[in-house]
Amino acid sequence: MTMAKPDVKQVDMLTPDQVAQFKRDGYLVLPGALDGDLCRQVRDDMWETLARGLPRMKRDDPSTWGPVSDEESAGLASQRPAIGGEPYLGGKGHRFSIRNGAEKLLLDLAPRACWQIAEQLLGEGSVVWPAGIDESGMTQGPCLLSDDAVGGLVSHMGSNMGYPEKGTFETEQNLPLPPTGPVWLNGQGSRGLYCTLPNSPSPGPDFRGVHSDGACYGRWRVQIAAYTDDLPAASGGFTVWPGSHTRIWDEQWKAFHEGEKHTDSHLAVRKAGGYADPVIQQIKSDTAPVDCHGPAGTVVLWHTKILHMAGQNQSRDIIRQATIYGYLKTLASLSDARALDNRGDDAWRDWSDEVRAAS
Ligand SMILES: [Fe+2]
Repeated sequence: MTMAKPDVKQVDMLTPDQVAQFKRDGYLVLPGALDGDLCRQVRDDMWETLARGLPRMKRDDPSTWGPVSDEESAGLASQRPAIGGEPYLGGKGHRFSIRNGAEKLLLDLAPRACWQIAEQLLGEGSVVWPAGIDESGMTQGPCLLSDDAVGGLVSHMGSNMGYPEKGTFETEQNLPLPPTGPVWLNGQGSRGLYCTLPNSPSPGPDFRGVHSDGACYGRWRVQIAAYTDDLPAASGGFTVWPGSHTRIWDEQWKAFHEGEKHTDSHLAVRKAGGYADPVIQQIKSDTAPVDCHGPAGTVVLWHTKILHMAGQNQSRDIIRQATIYGYLKTLASLSDARALDNRGDDAWRDWSDEVRAAS
């Protein structure tokens, strides 16, 4: 895997105050940090993709930006690429997504532009480089094959690919995935573009859909959400519960050591690792959520365990456009044995000296 420094203009490193704020709150907003020209290119590409797949949506007419009907949704879902993976454009209701996350433009825009921050937070030389699509048209990168990871492979690639039913809990160093597959699992791509159409429904008083990502024993530590268009408040921004990251991290490891495997049954009642954990209920009742918004190019850095959701888009003429990427710790910097056991350590064991020393 190429570990060369990226040939991409870098977002400024964090100040000591920002590092401390990130550590305390579990997230940090960097307003307008990304290259404006790249943001514009991503927006233009998005509208070209919509012109092909959902031509009734017109860029200059927000009245045409209504929800994706069941018929439209089924039509998009039927267009799977021959090489495997998901359809390039998919959607349902007020959400649509474009699986362009392993393409150079999307990688340069955010995951590579924030590379030096990722290394600042996780330690130089310890982060998987997002190399993207190789000469063969595929992506290759490491994946810790936990039950959750295998579940993700099956749900995004199909059950006929020969993936095992249960995880091996070992890292496959060069897991191949097609560009529109779950390329976040091998660190080679972002989730693509996740969009929320205007006038999206309220999540209700219990914040339907709120969650913490996956099991505690993955290789992700810091993730980013980046906006490619201006995003005012209450327009579908990435919404977080400050300080929830270490509470959930600690509770998940405690439950893990008491025997819970945190398989991807998010709806099941469990001590930790699901949508209905006691710790998550407690956080929702004692902490006010924060709607992270900002101009085009804004980046939200977040600890991988923070409680979050995509906010309600209450605007009439804004499409929330975000790309999400998770930085993985390399196998060399974090053995499988350590990735699977955080006993005796806190949430910052696998982070840089600078982060661990911050207070
Ligand atoms: Fe999530």
